[in-house]
Amino acid sequence: MNISQIARTIKSSATLKLNEKAAILREKGDPIIHLGGGEPMSKVPVEAIKAAMEHLNTGEVRYTPPNGIPSLKKAIIRYTEEYYNRLVEPENVMASGGAKQAIMVALQAILNPQEEVIFPAPYWVSYPEMVKLCQAIPVSVLPKDGTFYPRIQDIEEKVGSYTKVIIINSPNNPTGAVYSEEFIADVVEFCEKHDLYLIMDDIYHRLVFDNRKPINCYKYAKNLSENSKLIVVNGVSKQYAMTGFRIGWAVANKKLIEVMTNIQAHQTSGPSIVLQKAAVGALMGTQSSVENLRVTLEKNRNIMMEHLSSFDGIKVIKPDGTFYCFVDFTVYGKDSTKIADFLLNKVLVLAVPGVEFGMEGFLRLSYCGSVKDITEGIERMKWALDLNSPNELYIGDRKLVRDWT
Ligand SMILES: Cc1ncc(COP(=O)(O)O)c(C=O)c1O
Repeated sequence: MNISQIARTIKSSATLKLNEKAAILREKGDPIIHLGGGEPMSKVPVEAIKAAMEHLNTGEVRYTPPNGIPSLKKAIIRYTEEYYNRLVEPENVMASGGAKQAIMVALQAILNPQEEVIFPAPYWVSYPEMVKLCQAIPVSVLPKDGTFYPRIQDIEEKVGSYTKVIIINSPNNPTGAVYSEEFIADVVEFCEKHDLYLIMDDIYHRLVFDNRKPINCYKYAKNLSENSKLIVVNGVSKQYAMTGFRIGWAVANKKLIEVMTNIQAHQTSGPSIVLQKAAVGALMGTQSSVENLRVTLEKNRNIMMEHLSSFDGIKVIKPDGTFYCFVDFTVYGKDSTKIADFLLNKVLVLAVPGVEFGMEGFLRLSYCGSVKDITEGIERMKWALDLNSPNELYIGDRKLVRDWT
């Protein structure tokens, strides 16, 4: 097929593909357990639904300004003031079709071909592909000390004359790690000193556990003028359980937002008015659903930890936030795709292979589903992998007998 050189380099999204696979198997009636998901299962805030319905009932569903309707910008400004203690103006804000689009458009606005973008590994599956879509070069940095917590030295070593952007995602997908205040301070200072763009992908920032507080990167910025190269990305997908609404945003300097708006205007125009109204409802409503979700996820994290602790040989680092746990399964093999396929084929459990996040031998397990799924999912995995477990397992009234060694 005659397709572009760029298109040839772009991989499919492993996580979205897994969702598709789960849906197909579920439809077939297979009792699958999806521990590879990336979306909370709680209900959308009622204020969001009401706002969307109210707008639909007007019968007028039109184009919007390409960077967001005024009421959404106002809600984002309020959000930024409340959670980042920073007052910005409407010209500093662009609403997008998800945080994903906000990051993509920011990269398109910044990057020239062959310039480099650095991000810590393991990383969100989309960063390398987004960078490649800009004909730029993704550069991942694996913390040298074997943890999930990068140090500024690790990043510094990779910075060269082509480096243009650093992306930091904390709380992190896939590890659930919350990077230290010290690291965030270091990276903000480093980017200011070296005149680099810094994209803070804060999509999970309030989903933190063990009495942690969300970290505010602006606190460490010396340059808060309109020359600042700090871009903060957020959205309603994860914290408000509104993944299907596709609303995210970027806050940055006015000139950059203007350029990003020009790009977005020609790509998709503004996000759907109905969905923007819903996001306003969520952002301006009582914030109890976010706290309820956070508490549920923390409980689920603890349950997952407890069940994983009885699993021989695997290594687990307790997540500080999000709804992911990145588990070292190298004792069962180096090839994470093979392990994930084995688990799906033998016990109908879906997990995302670590290689998709830049680290082999690991699996990303999510605890955003039900307690039953977490408990039963891990039990099934243990049964399939740990040869000391009994020879038989029941899934409902299906009897599985181990025929592998
Ligand atoms: C780290 C990270 N950033 C951004 C996104 C995209 O979020 P949205 O649904 O707002 O596009 C995701 C979604 O999985 C994510 O994990």
